[in-house]
Amino acid sequence: MIETAKTVRPLKAPERTSLFANREQSETGKRVRQYFETSGFSRWSAIYGSGDIPPIWKVIRDGHDKALETVVSWLSTDTGHTALDAGCGTGTLSTALASHGYEVDAFDVSAPMIHFAKYINAGRTKGIPPRFQVGDIAALAGEAKTYDTVCCLDVLFHYPYEEVSEMLKRLTSLASHKVIGSFAIRTPMNDFWMAVGQKFHKKNRMTKLHMFTYDEVERILYRAGFKMTRTNRVKFFFYDSFLFEAVRVGA
Ligand SMILES: C[S@@+](CC[C@H](N)C(=O)[O-])C[C@H]1O[C@@H](n2cnc3c(N)ncnc32)[C@H](O)[C@@H]1O
Repeated sequence: MIETAKTVRPLKAPERTSLFANREQSETGKRVRQYFETSGFSRWSAIYGSGDIPPIWKVIRDGHDKALETVVSWLSTDTGHTALDAGCGTGTLSTALASHGYEVDAFDVSAPMIHFAKYINAGRTKGIPPRFQVGDIAALAGEAKTYDTVCCLDVLFHYPYEEVSEMLKRLTSLASHKVIGSFAIRTPMNDFWMAVGQKFHKKNRMTKLHMFTYDEVERILYRAGFKMTRTNRVKFFFYDSFLFEAVRVGA
């Protein structure tokens, strides 16, 4: 059939292409970005890779692999879902999401991480390759497009409670159905190990580990209209990541 002016479907309003607004970074945000653009980039890209690394880094690699396995087991098996991977690092979760049939947008505050993610994942992903871009969770714009699932794995523990609260507010506003994330859980034992660790660590470390209780995180999600539906604490030697899945109430 020849398309005439009458048969052509009206164009939808153009979708906002930028997920981000211009926002000043917090002091913690600047320090974290600087770390992941320099020494943190070398360290974490090696940890998330497959080459030889020191045994202490291997503990993190193996723990992270277990966390990834759990997250993947929580994914929908239907195809055609959309996902946002916030703080994607080298893209390990982004590519797993794509392999599960999700259409994925992924971003990270560190430009070298994003260059590396694009480079190592090029041509390797099953499904639609994730779209990687540089961006900051703290600068996510509320009215940008929404995703079925928003993920944020092993990122939030770099930030203090007030900033995590704001970040989760932005992340949940982009999730039409669920959010999957992780945080470092505060327990008396972890408080003890943290105090011991601080005695031996350099005073001028670029990043700091922030721990929260389950109730603190649940409260933030509840205020955003989300209910915790699944949790799993992945503990492997000193790797300790508390995974959660939260679903929009009434979705
Ligand atoms: C420990 S890595 C985890 C990477 C990835 N999520 C994974 O699990 O494989 C933390 C990542 O979070 C990123 N990041 C930290 N703060 C961020 C922010 N405010 N916005 C976006 N990315 C951030 C870092 O650059 C780094 O790549």
